[in-house]
Amino acid sequence: MRSSMSMPGTPRRNPHQGAWHQLIAAVLLVAGGVHLGSDADAAERKRGSATDPAALYHNYCSVCHGDRGDGNSRAKGSLVPPPRDFTRATDLNREAMIIIVREGKAGTAMAGWGTQLNDREIAAVVDYVRNTFMKVATDPKLQRGRTLYAQNCMACHGDRGQGAPAPSGLIPAKDFTTPQARAELTRERMIASVTNGRPNTQMVAFKGRLPDADIAAVVDYVMAGLMLPTAGSISGTSAHANRSGDDPMALPFINGLTGNVAKGERFYKDNCATCHGIKGDGKGPRAYFINPKPRNFEDAGFRNGFNRPAIYRAVAEGRLGAEMPAWNKVLTDQEIADVSEYVFRAFVQQKTARSSR
Ligand code: HEC
Ligand code: HEC
Ligand code: HEC
Repeated sequence: MRSSMSMPGTPRRNPHQGAWHQLIAAVLLVAGGVHLGSDADAAERKRGSATDPAALYHNYCSVCHGDRGDGNSRAKGSLVPPPRDFTRATDLNREAMIIIVREGKAGTAMAGWGTQLNDREIAAVVDYVRNTFMKVATDPKLQRGRTLYAQNCMACHGDRGQGAPAPSGLIPAKDFTTPQARAELTRERMIASVTNGRPNTQMVAFKGRLPDADIAAVVDYVMAGLMLPTAGSISGTSAHANRSGDDPMALPFINGLTGNVAKGERFYKDNCATCHGIKGDGKGPRAYFINPKPRNFEDAGFRNGFNRPAIYRAVAEGRLGAEMPAWNKVLTDQEIADVSEYVFRAFVQQKTARSSR
């Protein structure tokens, strides 16, 4: 297939063959993505509606950072460094977060979202992370509540507020993470239950054991840190749920595109395999000369963390400081979706299906 005239790894697309060298040089120079806002604005216009930041988070970030923002996700064990636990992040300011979400963080699986989310959406999702997951990390009173919870409540209510099975015949400790718990447990009711206990259960009265201020602090921690909305209960996520259920790995492309896997396969073999290998093992003919090495699509970190939106974003934005071009400079949205669809089907879905058998 490969003609002896073409440089390995030189992308080929018929209409502009001659211009590829300059284009790729330009790609590498501007891979930081300075003018990407307009693409994302167009994507938002295509999506049509003002987007709910909770749905954005749960659709595009929770696959790595976890439903509860604590970094507990399928991808966790296999990404180095692992995705950030926002509930313990005391060192992140809003501006730094916005830049990282837009442009990515070099040397980690966190690539920029600047091509897919516009500035307004990026600010909204960052504020959502701060208000939902980082409140505990940044408020000393809630941190005191977290400590009190660990000392006095965790044994029965679980480290994440999930409750624990009770010895037979006894009423189990309340699971704080369910939608019912969020609906029925008001702050007043919880303060009363913690102060006076619940008759005929193991939920003892803390009056006399904890001062009122501590009871308030631990209840506020339970509300801010444990009674978090989960993906299924977030309005807006349900729009996607029809197509993907609750599995973030099944999410469609963010901009409403459907990839053509046959076209994507052809493009992959012509332009990507030279680095990533036909088998996706990162051992293409050019890989030998490159540092850092092209991503091996067979490793678990890739398969667990890279759904369609994440692959699309990685291909579109490229990797600053690595020889991974920003393909949005030379491909249309549709072409990026095609090749991303192929990478997803061939290396994420297939491999995962095979290894779970
Ligand atoms: C493919 C996995 C993945 C996805 C998807 C992902 N992240 Fe990340 N994120 C990471 C990793 C890995 C880090 C780096 C952690 C570190 O450096 O310790 C990170 C770091 C960050 C940081 C910076 C924290 C720091 O330590 O400097 C922010 C903010 C962030 N992510 C927000 C988001 C948001 C918002 C989304 C969704 C729009 C998102 N991430 C999607 C994997 C991911
Ligand atoms: C020895 C086990 C145990 C410990 C320790 C414990 N709980 Fe409970 N808790 C329970 C059980 C069992 C229930 C269920 C009671 C019921 O359904 O009426 C419960 C229920 C609750 C409820 C819901 C009450 C309601 O109104 O329905 C809250 C709030 C609560 N616990 C908070 C706390 C806090 C805060 C602490 C720590 C300061 C704590 N619990 C310590 C066992 C425990
Ligand atoms: C010149 C070599 C080269 C070519 C050509 C190339 N890549 Fe890459 N690719 C890389 C390197 C290097 C990395 C970064 C590995 C790292 O950061 O550890 C990478 C990373 C990736 C990632 C993962 C990003 C991440 O965060 O790990 C994806 C997905 C990807 N490439 C897809 C593609 C696709 C699809 C094509 C073809 C359209 C392609 N690449 C072409 C070298 C290349």
